[in-house]
Amino acid sequence: MRRQGVTSRPRPRKPFAGLDRIICGDVLDVLAAVPRQSVHLIITSPPYNLDKDYEEHSDDLEDRAYLAWMKKVWRAAIKTLVPGGRLCINIGENKRQYISNPTYSAFIQQLVSLKMLYRGTIIWNKHSAAKHCAWGSWKSPSNPHLVPRHEYILAFSKGQWKLDGDKADSDISDKEFMSCTRSVWVFGTESKKRVGHPAPFPETLPERLIKFYSYRGHTVLDPFGGSGTVAVVAARLGRHFIHGDNSPQYCELARKRLTEAHGLFLDPRIIPVEEL
Ligand SMILES: C[S@@+](CC[C@H](N)C(=O)[O-])C[C@H]1O[C@@H](n2cnc3c(N)ncnc32)[C@H](O)[C@@H]1O
Repeated sequence: MRRQGVTSRPRPRKPFAGLDRIICGDVLDVLAAVPRQSVHLIITSPPYNLDKDYEEHSDDLEDRAYLAWMKKVWRAAIKTLVPGGRLCINIGENKRQYISNPTYSAFIQQLVSLKMLYRGTIIWNKHSAAKHCAWGSWKSPSNPHLVPRHEYILAFSKGQWKLDGDKADSDISDKEFMSCTRSVWVFGTESKKRVGHPAPFPETLPERLIKFYSYRGHTVLDPFGGSGTVAVVAARLGRHFIHGDNSPQYCELARKRLTEAHGLFLDPRIIPVEEL
């Protein structure tokens, strides 16, 4: 019980046991375990609901159930952000034609309804060669289809536009900064086979976002971390990371990638979320 007239000093925060570690668990459990207002930047690529073959997730939910789940994830993710913290979501175009509410646009509506400030959308031009030929009505205006060669990166801030930090801890060059401010980013995709995961993004994606939107020493979270791309790049750039995924197999892959990239500097154990 607090004694009257005695003002209690704020207790120093215990360091989060999941910092710079791989956490294996469901996204909502992982996000609930991350201390509130402790993350500066979230970079994540959720399952797109395009029937990808993930180890522990059925990627073919009914549209409304998928969006309701994602809104819960965003709500929980926002709690982990510091004021001014950034949330960057990578999402592709819906592959099926005739979608009435495209996923990227639904995400923007969801995040704005959760009071996030919309910084804008980056178009990632994947610079990739055509792999399929779903042209619709061939050489006829009757019903030609668009075949996506791009993905989106949606960027938001929590509560305020500015993020606190020391300019000395900024590590982006003039050239990189100018290139990041242009809203079309051009770089190739990552090979699923090389990485051993069904949907990895290339290291360039988090590298640009981390330098553009955070300072050295900041904490970067990916609750759908997959093969560990965000964690590997964050550690290389002198940021802390929090990595979550519900697949033990992908957590093991992320552990291997991190150990190969950063060796003894990191604690290589995977923590089950229940142990946090
Ligand atoms: C698009 S992939 C992310 C890939 C990652 N960006 C990379 O570079 O490897 C989505 C990831 O979400 C994970 N996932 C799906 N459902 C999940 C859930 N309920 N909780 C935690 N992770 C989940 C999948 O296992 C998959 O690794």
